[in-house]
Amino acid sequence: MRNESFYLILGICGFMFGLISHTYGNLEYKGYPRAQACTGECYAEYQRVNGTLAEQMEMKREIANADPFSAIRGLWGGCAACHGQSGQGMGAFPKLAGKDSEYISQRLYAYQNRETIGNMSSMMWAQASQLSDQDIETLGNFIQETMNE
Ligand code: HEC
Repeated sequence: MRNESFYLILGICGFMFGLISHTYGNLEYKGYPRAQACTGECYAEYQRVNGTLAEQMEMKREIANADPFSAIRGLWGGCAACHGQSGQGMGAFPKLAGKDSEYISQRLYAYQNRETIGNMSSMMWAQASQLSDQDIETLGNFIQETMNE
């Protein structure tokens, strides 16, 4: 009786072990073969499709260089929540499209200094306080060059 249950448990354990190792062996992460498995031919194929690491970095750099506004596109997403994706303005949020870079950066520096321009300037104080001089310059050019109505 004791022997029987011992073998039964052993059998179950063996089955579970087999099931787990089989499942794990076939795991694939997001369509890539398991990392440990991707060597030799698999890695050569990965490089053929995606390029070497150096090539990938070079490509990213080229894309960033081709877009002079890459540094502030993420930042603009926040501005766009109020001013609209193409600076068209929304309700009480003023339109920025059509303004030149000089105007935009002057306003942003004014808000950084907590100056009052309209009756909702306080809303811009927090926004502007997070911008570097470089951000302000780039944002000004971005609005002037890409949003001239
Ligand atoms: C929470 C909403 C909100 C966000 C986010 C926001 N703004 Fe504003 N913005 C305003 C409001 C409201 C005003 C009008 C403020 C006033 O009354 O002086 C304004 C005014 C401005 C002005 C002056 C416009 C003019 O003609 O006087 C500029 C330039 C500007 N924002 C740029 C930006 C930029 C760049 C960002 C992103 C870094 C940004 N704003 C993010 C709400 C927002």
